Amino acid sequence: MNRAEPSWTDPAWLPPEAFRPLGTRRTLIRGTGPVAGTVRGEVAEACARFGGEVVRGDGTGAAYDLLLEMGDGGLGEEDFTCARHGGTTTVTASGGRGLLYGLFHVVRLGEKAFAGPRPGEVHRPATAVRMLDHWDNVAVHPVMGQVERGYAGGSLFWREGRARGEPGRVRAYARLLAACGINAVCVNNVNVHATEAHLLTDRIGEVAAIAGALRPYGVRTHLSVTFAAPVVLGGLSTADPLEAAVRQWWARAVRGVYDAIPDFGGFVVKADSEGQPGPFTYGRSHADGTNMLAAALAPHGGTVHWRAFVYDHRQDWRDRTTDRARAAHDHFAPLDGEFADNAVLQVKHGPMDFQVREPVSPVLGALPRTRLAVEVQATQEYTGQQRHVCWLGPMWSEVLGFRPQGGAGPAVGELAGHLVAVSNAGDDPFWTGHPLAQANLYTFGRLAWRPDADPYRVLDEWIGLTFPSAPERLVTGLHAVLDGSWRTYEKYTAPLGVGFMVQPGHHYGPSVDGYEYSPWGTYHFADRDGIGVDRSAATGTGYAAQYAEPWAGVYESAATCPDELLLFFHHVPYGHVLRSGKTVVQHVYDAHFEGVEEVEEARRVWAGLADLVEPVRHTRVAELFEEQLRSAGEWRDQINSYFLRKSGVPDAHGRRIY
Ligand code: GCU
Repeated sequence: MNRAEPSWTDPAWLPPEAFRPLGTRRTLIRGTGPVAGTVRGEVAEACARFGGEVVRGDGTGAAYDLLLEMGDGGLGEEDFTCARHGGTTTVTASGGRGLLYGLFHVVRLGEKAFAGPRPGEVHRPATAVRMLDHWDNVAVHPVMGQVERGYAGGSLFWREGRARGEPGRVRAYARLLAACGINAVCVNNVNVHATEAHLLTDRIGEVAAIAGALRPYGVRTHLSVTFAAPVVLGGLSTADPLEAAVRQWWARAVRGVYDAIPDFGGFVVKADSEGQPGPFTYGRSHADGTNMLAAALAPHGGTVHWRAFVYDHRQDWRDRTTDRARAAHDHFAPLDGEFADNAVLQVKHGPMDFQVREPVSPVLGALPRTRLAVEVQATQEYTGQQRHVCWLGPMWSEVLGFRPQGGAGPAVGELAGHLVAVSNAGDDPFWTGHPLAQANLYTFGRLAWRPDADPYRVLDEWIGLTFPSAPERLVTGLHAVLDGSWRTYEKYTAPLGVGFMVQPGHHYGPSVDGYEYSPWGTYHFADRDGIGVDRSAATGTGYAAQYAEPWAGVYESAATCPDELLLFFHHVPYGHVLRSGKTVVQHVYDAHFEGVEEVEEARRVWAGLADLVEPVRHTRVAELFEEQLRSAGEWRDQINSYFLRKSGVPDAHGRRIY
């Protein structure tokens, strides 16, 4: 494959070659309905390309290598079984989606699907909803553009105020998503501006058209709505969730949505957050607000995803008692048990905002009677903006494996019924800007399906699908570039969990004090003696006490707090000795030098793969490595110089610091 020009038809992890093992064989398909039709189409296309055959009729008496059938067998709608006996591989599902996921399972297995006996295995997703939230605006926003925090070109759905009207492209996207198990997409930004508000009512037809292109791949459509919709769209004088007229307005609006999109998934709501309207305006609680929307959606089977990202973004930096990290728990933990059955509280994985290192949000362990979704950020707002290689699989896996009650209790991946990622895809020819950022999208889907999956095995799958029959050197090289890239990024950016230190506004590149005297609540408090935020219960903001034991105790003391989170929880002198044995300031210097060296090494490895990757893809990544290295050097020099100047402590190894 040597495509001269990149185009959106770049199939990411599903190039035709990935279907060769299936396309050379004889397949019998038994199933009805639109998604089963998609399965039939996929197999037929592969056979047309590679010479195999879709066996006609009921297949009685015919020989076939693969049977894809809808039966029952007590399986859920998305489940499937896969077995191989006597020369036939059989995938059984009860629904179309199960059949489709079974098909992609066979594609992932490749030739292995047709070799030797395979005992029957049941595959079922651990989470019911595996969703991508697109922060896409319909109209180009004067500050945020077409896609808020988007680093992959324009939106797949919208352009300059209107729907793009490109169902083929949306369908191709849905295909990629289905192949990693994603089954829901929210098509517009959580910040709902004036134009976007209308998607709920008079512009629902445009949403329905997108839903139509996502549906054949089993992907349901969700919509972000503004809490003020009854006022801004309905002309009511209030959006008070306990007002009868408001509730009726929502019920009517939701009926209109379901008339247009019968399988509509539901709403995503950002309320009382960063300027978005919400129930606080009317003196009502977030449970009141959530339940009002849940009531409107319930008769139709819809769900409301209500975001827990509620905090004061107009804080006074002089006020040391307000701690943004505490906000979500303070607001939501007291409401446990009050939410409707079809309401899901959508919680960012950390208490702040998708930093490269944060503790797991204490909210995830604090509402046992509330349905939870964990939200991660595939779009790399704070992790290199898809100009840097930063594969987030290991970070997400750590979050999902965290046990809020300690060893015997459930992991976050078991507590969360839904998993959500802010999408990193756009109209870029490679879908994600950085071609290697595709690995984040794929890994999210697979971890959402199985939160306890080994992320490195998932990466193997992505490599296998993206570069079918890749020689060992390519596989090893990709692992070398991607495996440690998150920790590398952590090393050359903000140290020891302190976070931020980014350029204000666009959030790319270093600015140590960029947010230090701002209203956003993201401070590090560095002075000549030390750095970090005291969030202990004894002397600080009390955030550490929002955790259950053992974590409350572990985080409370600098002696037991894990090194990588030390500055998140404690203000310590530069000479404080870490559990690693290094002082804080020496750790800062060492990590920043190492981080840049690791980027240099990754760039070198990538350069050595030039003969194994299509030129357009190789060149794009090689160019981005130049920028990553420049930026990493800038981070190193600014952070190291800042701390040398503040602390006056020289580098033990006498390296160059400015
Ligand atoms: C971050 C991000 C915003 C976004 C917000 C959210 O703060 O910078 O662009 O709107 O998260 O998650 O709502």
